[in-house]
Parts: sequence; C-alpha cells; structure tokens
Amino acid sequence: MVVNLGLVFALLFALIGRISAQVYTLDDYRSLDFVELLVFDKVYVEIGSNIGPYVKRRLRKHLTSLSSNFQKVEVVDEVKQVLNRRSDQSTSENRILTVSLGNGTQSLEDIPSSELTTLPWESYTIVFKQHESNIFSLSANGLPLDPSIRKNISFNALAVNYGAIAGSYAVLELLGFAFLHPLEPYYPPELRFSRNTDFNNRSEIVFLETPYWPQRAFHLHTQHPLELTEVLQGHDIPQFGKHGAECREFSEYSTAYRRDQNLSFSSRHTANTSSTTTTPYCERWEDMLIDVDSFYEWSIANGLNMIEWLLLDNFKWGDELTTRFYRFKRLTQLGHQYSLLIGADVPIGNIQQHGWYMVNVRLPIQEQKQQIKDRIDWIFHSGFDFLTTESGLSEFTHPECDLMIDLFNTFASYINETWSRQSAVKVHCSTGQYCSDYLDPRNGDPMNFNFLPTFTHPGLGILPHTVQMYSFDDPTAGSYGNNNFTYMEDYLVFEGKLKKRNILYYGETSYWVNVDIDVPLFLPIYGQRRIKDLRKIAYRKNVENFHISGQMNFDSGWEYGYWLNDVVTARGSWNPHINSEKIELYRQCMNNIEDEGTTPFEQEEDRAGKRTKAQWKEKNCPPFSDEYDEYHSMLRIFSNIYGPKYALPLTDLITQLTKLQSNLLIHSYIRNRPNPNLKKLSGIAYLSGIDTWVELPRQLGLSFTQPDKVHLYESDDIDWPYVLELLQEMEEEFEKISEEFHLLLYTIQEDYNHQQQTTTLTRRSEEQFLLNQQAIDYLEEIIDSMQLLYLRTKQVHLLYQSNDADLSYESKRRKSLLQQSRDVIEEAKNIVQRREQYYRVPWQRIASWRENPTVYRFGYLWAVHSLYYWWRDQGIAETLTKTFKRHSPCYLNRMDSTEVAVGWGKYTLEWIRYFVTNYTPFASVFPLEIVNCLTPPSHEYQFPRDL
Ligand SMILES: *[C@@H]1O[C@H](CO)[C@@H](O)[C@H](O)[C@H]1NC(C)=O
Ligand SMILES: *[C@@H]1O[C@H](CO)[C@@H](O)[C@H](O)[C@H]1NC(C)=O
Ligand SMILES: *[C@@H]1O[C@H](CO)[C@@H](O)[C@H](O)[C@H]1NC(C)=O
Ligand SMILES: *[C@@H]1O[C@H](CO)[C@@H](O)[C@H](O)[C@H]1NC(C)=O
Ligand SMILES: *[C@@H]1O[C@H](CO)[C@@H](O)[C@H](O)[C@H]1NC(C)=O
Repeated sequence: MVVNLGLVFALLFALIGRISAQVYTLDDYRSLDFVELLVFDKVYVEIGSNIGPYVKRRLRKHLTSLSSNFQKVEVVDEVKQVLNRRSDQSTSENRILTVSLGNGTQSLEDIPSSELTTLPWESYTIVFKQHESNIFSLSANGLPLDPSIRKNISFNALAVNYGAIAGSYAVLELLGFAFLHPLEPYYPPELRFSRNTDFNNRSEIVFLETPYWPQRAFHLHTQHPLELTEVLQGHDIPQFGKHGAECREFSEYSTAYRRDQNLSFSSRHTANTSSTTTTPYCERWEDMLIDVDSFYEWSIANGLNMIEWLLLDNFKWGDELTTRFYRFKRLTQLGHQYSLLIGADVPIGNIQQHGWYMVNVRLPIQEQKQQIKDRIDWIFHSGFDFLTTESGLSEFTHPECDLMIDLFNTFASYINETWSRQSAVKVHCSTGQYCSDYLDPRNGDPMNFNFLPTFTHPGLGILPHTVQMYSFDDPTAGSYGNNNFTYMEDYLVFEGKLKKRNILYYGETSYWVNVDIDVPLFLPIYGQRRIKDLRKIAYRKNVENFHISGQMNFDSGWEYGYWLNDVVTARGSWNPHINSEKIELYRQCMNNIEDEGTTPFEQEEDRAGKRTKAQWKEKNCPPFSDEYDEYHSMLRIFSNIYGPKYALPLTDLITQLTKLQSNLLIHSYIRNRPNPNLKKLSGIAYLSGIDTWVELPRQLGLSFTQPDKVHLYESDDIDWPYVLELLQEMEEEFEKISEEFHLLLYTIQEDYNHQQQTTTLTRRSEEQFLLNQQAIDYLEEIIDSMQLLYLRTKQVHLLYQSNDADLSYESKRRKSLLQQSRDVIEEAKNIVQRREQYYRVPWQRIASWRENPTVYRFGYLWAVHSLYYWWRDQGIAETLTKTFKRHSPCYLNRMDSTEVAVGWGKYTLEWIRYFVTNYTPFASVFPLEIVNCLTPPSHEYQFPRDL
C-alpha cells in the first residue's frame, strides 16, 4: 500500500478529536522541550498474545531486568486489575505505572480496534495517561504486516503482529531504552518517562506512528568478514576443524563464555588483545545465534520489516549443505518471530568472492535454467521469504547481454509465478559496460549493462545502488568511475514512472575495504546523506507521482560508531521527515523548471528586486536548507540517553561534524575556496587506505573503487601544494572538534561520578536524570572514533609534509616528521587496543587474521587491529626518503587475487604481463615482488617489523 500523507493527517485529526489529546510522532516528541521526569516506584506490565510467545519472553526479560530496590517491575496477567484497585493506591506515596503491550486488556480499552483498523498497515498507536496524581499508564498496539509484502510468505504474519511488536519496542524507548548498536541494546538505569509537553489539562499524550514506505530492508553484506558472517552462513568458527561441544569449555573468548560469566556490555570484556593466552579461538554456531536474535530485535525496533544476507559457498567446502539447510531454517524462523521477512541474496552467475552462484555458464542454457529453479526451491524450502540477486559475473565484468536477460527472466518468473514471492536485482554503479544490442529507451544509446533489468519480467524488482557516503548529487571524485550518482537517481525515477516493477533505493552506510570503516574513519555524514537521499526521493515521488516501495540499505559493519549511521538510515525509511508544506514548495519548484512563467518564481523575483532564477531555486528547491535539521532531530534517538541537559549539545556536535565532513571530505573546499581538481584533491581520498588493488588499476589507467589522489611519491604534481593546504585545514578542524567532544565527555563523566557518590543509598530526587556506565561507554566509543579520525588526518598530513620537495632528503626535519608520524600511529594503537575490549563480539571474530568463509584471510577490522593502512603509508614514505625508490603496487598485499576475483581473471593476466615489462626499478628485488600481488603471506603481517 502506498501511504497517502493526506490520509494520515486526516486520521491524526480524527484521533485528536476523539480523545482530545496531543498527537505526536515519536521523532517530534523526542525533540520537544523537556518538562518533567517521571520515575516510577512500581511498574506492572501485561503483554498481549498478538506479540507472539518469543518476543513476549524477550520484552519481559528486558523490563524485569531493571527491577531494583527502588523500582519494582512485575509482569502480570492483566494490568486492568491494578488500575481498578487504584483507589487503594492513590493514597499511597508510590508512583505507579502500568504498561500494556499488544492486545492486552488495557490496550484494547485505550486503543479500540475500531480506531486502529482505520490506520494504514503496520501502524501503531501509543497512549500515555495520567489517572491520578501518582498513577500512570502506557498502552501500545498496532496492525500486522502490509498484505502487499506478505503474499504467500513462509509464516503467518497475522499471528505475530508487526505493529504491536514495533509499538512495544517504541514503548521501551519511551521508558529509556535505546536500540543503538545492533548487538548492544542500551538499558536505562531505571524506567522513566520524559514528559516533554504540557498536558494542557488533558491527561493524555497520544503517539501515532505510520511507516512512510511499505518496504524497509537491510542487506548484511556477508561476502565481507563481518560480525554475523559465519552464523548467517550456518557455520561454526572455525568453519573447518575443531569445534563442537569442547569449544564451549576451552574458549574464554566465546559469546557463550561471556554470557555464562555475566560479562555484560557495561563491564569491560576480559578478551585480551595482547594474545598472551594460547587457547585457540572458536565459537559454536548455536552460541552465536543470540547475536542474530539481537540484530533482528534491533531491526524491528528501528522500523525495518525485511532483512537479507548474501549466501556463500565454495567447491572446497565439501557437502555441508544438509547442516546448513537446517541452520537456515532456524535463522529464518527466528526472524519470523519478530514478524520480519527474511531474504537471501544469491548471485545468478556472479562467481566473485565465494558467492553461492546458481548457474554454470558453460552448461547448455536449459540446464542453467533448471539450476536456477532448483536453487530457488531449495532456498524457499529453508524458510526464506524473498530472494534478490546480483547481475554479471562480477561487479566489473559481464556475460552476454542476451544470456543475462534470459537468466533474469527464468529467475524472476519462477519466483513470481510459481512461488508468488518477491525478487529483485541490485543495479550496480560500476561503469563502462554497455549492451550494443539493447538501446536505452530514454535516448537510444547502447544500454548500460547494469540497467538491463528494465527489459526483463516485471516480477523482477530493482535496487538502484549508490556507494560510499555520497548522496545522488554529491561529487564522487571518480569513485567507481563516476562523477556523481545523479544518473542512478534518473534511472530510479525512470523506472518508477513506468510503474511496472518494484523499486527500492539501495544506498549504504559504510564502505569496506579501504575507504572508511577499516581505517577506521568515523563518518556520521553517512547517515546524514542517506536521510538526504530518502527525503529527496520522497519529495520527488509526491510531486512527480512515480512508484517506489522504499529502501534497502547495504550494511557492512557496526563498530566505531557506524551503528549510528544504521540507526538513522533505518528510521529514515519509516519516517523521512517530509512535510506537506515543502511538498507544495517543491511542486512549484518543479513547475518552475518546466515553465519559466509561473507565479511564485516571478513574485519572488519582484520582491527581491534582482533575484535570479538560480538563486530562487537554490533557496526553494531540494535539497532543502533544513537537511541538517532533520538529521539533527533524528540523532535524539541516541543523544536522549544523556538526558535533557546533554542531549542537545551532543546532537549539535555530531551535526556540526557532518557539516565539516561535507565541506572537507566531499566538496573538499580549501579554505572556503572551491576545489581546483576534485578528481585528485578530494579530502576523503587522503584518509582512505590504499592497497595493491587500488594501486594496480591506477597504474593501468583503469577506474577503481575510490577517489584518486596525489600520491606520496608525486611531489612534483601541480596539485601538490593544494594537498598540503587541504590536509592542514582538515587537521586543524578535526582537532578542534575532537577537543569539543572530549570536553563534553569529561563534563558528562564528572556528572556521572558525582551522581555515583550521592545517590547510591538514599532515594534520589525525582527530577534528577540518572546516567549510567553504559551511556558513558557509548559516548567513549564516539569520542575514540572521533579521535582516530583526527589522528589519521594528522598522520597523513605529516607524511605529505615529510615528502615535500622543498625539504632536502637529508634534512633533520624530514626525519623528525616521519618519527612524529610513527608516534601518531602509536597513539592510535592505544585507542584501538582499548576499543577492542569493547567490541560487541569477541575481537577475534572481526579483527584477527584467520581463515573464514569469505575470500579474505582476516576479519573486517583486522586492518584496524594492525593499523595496516597507516603503516603501509608510513612504509612508502620512509622508503622514498631512504632509497629514493617507490615500492611496487604489490607492497604488503594481503589479498588472494584469484580467490577474490575469479571474475577479474582477465585483468589479472593483463596486470602480470604489464608488470613483467614495466616494474623493474622498484625497491624490492624483481621478480619476487610479483608473487606478492597474487597472494598474501601465509602469516599475519606484524608492523612495523614487516615494513
Ligand atoms: C490477541 O491477538 C491474538 C492474535 O491475533 C488473538 O489470538 C487473541 O485472541 C487476541 N486476544 C484478545 C484478548 O483480543
Ligand atoms: C489547568 O487547570 C488549572 C486548574 O485546574 C488552571 O489553573 C490552569 O490554568 C489550567 N491550564 C491550562 C493550560 O488550561
Ligand atoms: C506459496 O508457498 C508455498 C509454500 O509455503 C508453496 O508450496 C506454493 O507453491 C507457493 N505458491 C502459491 C501460488 O501458493
Ligand atoms: C508478480 O509480478 C506482477 C507484475 O507482473 C506483480 O503485479 C505482482 O505483484 C508480482 N507478485 C509478487 C508476489 O511479487
Ligand atoms: C553529474 O555528472 C555529470 C557528468 O557525469 C554532469 O553533467 C552533471 O552536471 C553532474 N551533476 C551534478 C549535480 O553535479
């Protein structure tokens, strides 16, 4: 169902009329001025049966875990009885709250189903009431999954009511919980309710939440060695070899061990990163299941309704599919307990990176088609509800266009017609591949290979994908060969106007490898840019009337504050914060573009005297100048855990950082001047890591996956002086803001310490908003991540200074700069080691050098553990100074080229040939160096030893 804003507003007013109360969305309410803190002595909870038994148990556990001497939390059969006895209680001093979740007795009364059923699918309502001066109640109930997405899915979406569950988690949030990192829910020190509005002598506050888009999906990119990669593949750790029951006993790193020892997240983990212990690291699949559970819970708490991941396989793994089949079944069933649709991403012919591709393209076509059908049957029988796929043989190469379309049609029609389910394909933003036999209906040019789905069965949905932090109209400085992603927006709108197939916008919230999360670079700009894109699409959709069902977000890792990007991005598909006034403005804006003579533009011109059309557009057309305000208000989901005193300063700081990142890392203004050559002077390019797989294609003049830069050995480049200027400004700005973050942490920490000393024994004053250690830990993560961003900038700046052609090679200054850079790495190392104790999974799962089901021999944060990119840059700078020679691109390679990229085989051969003829003058002894490009060393790199 397409949500009609007008309808929602009409309903809002209907509700207001009925109960004469204020009606808010949660986001609006969170940003209101704080009036009063209500803390309760006794909390009684009832949980209706439409929540389902599994989530019911989970909610009970969360709420009762907060029961303390000061606050009793009790789950009862019916809270109405408590309210009925209220005459006895109104005389007591105790403040009482009753909570009714789902179709409990009190909810059914507060939220009559006759009212509820007039709302759009998946909506929920929450009613907060004051009954007596000391007696309050909270009720929540909602509507099940939208029928448009629950066609013939593999579970009963009416038995576990999506809206009732989502509403229950919203109630938890109103009482102080926050679902931030997917594996670490935030628990408040006590259940409390912030009254942010005057009752106006009406004793109710009503919240109404309606999802803007019917499809709100996350894709966990398990082709990368992430937190949940093994468990979602149905694998133990290690995948082969010793595991099973004994693992539980001998591994002190496992999740199970930590749970048994009660090592909660708010206490430091014992995991010892200095690896003095020799016990091998292992985890059983069964023990990791709780992490998936936590992620599912996070998903619905943040408004998602579809989750998918990519399935892997490799001929070397032997036959373990029977085990994996039953494990997939358990994983999908667990998701269904939350009323989430669970999907699998399975490549058709894309053999890159251990994808479990369906067809052998060397077989006759009929056999290939049968392979596709067999695979679809297998996957749906293991409980998945929808399927997506990837096109081509890899991101960068493709088979014949006819064949591809034929295979797409088989895939889509079998899923649509035989299974009555949904399928979709990722539309990648790689460049340079065209189909000469297929013409782009928009202009008659040969079709971009990635846009081929437009010629396929209408059951095949599309997922137009953009990469990295950039919004559609940001300059992407050549990443993946693109200047910007406006062509992807155009394609999305073009398909949307055909109204033929399902469309989800497919952005992302981190980029692994090299670019950001594994440096690591703290980039809250990701979340801000996703909101910006979502709002732009929402405004355009309203004015231009095209069809789009929502968002899929490409997710690749959560530590170092990246969860914040995921939280705001997920919420953006529930509520993109658009309003009807702006829709009108945008409509005028569009009309103006088509018809120069319309009134608003002319009036504006008259009033302003000399205002030009461009100026008018800049002021009134998207992106609206409120783009940061809306992001700002969404950050309150996180910052409100610090209470009314600190929420705003923290929100302001993060927003300020995103503006800085837009100016310095994307637009890369140099001292407020426009950038003279973004293709080589993009701020982010200097902070990102560089490895063999960026250097090689660069040498060959091919496009690559991140913006280019002036390299350390190119001090004669005409842009070199700008590099130094840009880096200097970045260093200054990031240092300043990092200081401000530290100051805020210090203040909050002091406040917390003070609270600790004064409130332990006596009943505290009711007005006081209590902090806890977990809140401090969350803030420390943000501040550490911010500090690492600053240190990385400082290090890179030092290295460029040290290679400045103005310095003589022998100069003391050069040596001193290089030494300072090493000192910065040491400082970063200390922060990383501290952070590793706080990772939400054992650090070995995501940061060690170990074999795993992906093609990489290390976890996604190994490059952070070793500070690989920092040291590689250091090694290059020092060698230049000592020997006046460059390292080859193969220097410190850590990838198995053939394993990663069978699809790159063509290029690999080209590269080797190119190498043999061109690369003798390098620092290392030729030809041994070539071997380094093809395969990493058998052991883990140790720095600085291996430089
Ligand atoms: C609550 O909802 C469940 C599932 O829809 C239903 O079976 C049950 O009868 C309902 N309970 C009440 C009291 O309405
Ligand atoms: C609320 O009621 C009190 C008396 O019951 C009255 O004094 C006050 O002005 C009222 N406030 C509003 C906003 O109506
Ligand atoms: C619906 O799903 C069931 C399995 O849950 C499957 O057997 C059936 O073929 C599907 N298709 C239709 C049209 O019902
Ligand atoms: C199958 O495709 C048609 C378009 O041809 C679409 O209307 C229908 O909703 C699709 N079915 C499912 C289950 O997605
Ligand atoms: C996007 O890039 C194209 C060239 O690839 C250019 O023509 C267009 O003006 C750019 N759009 C924006 C918003 O920068």
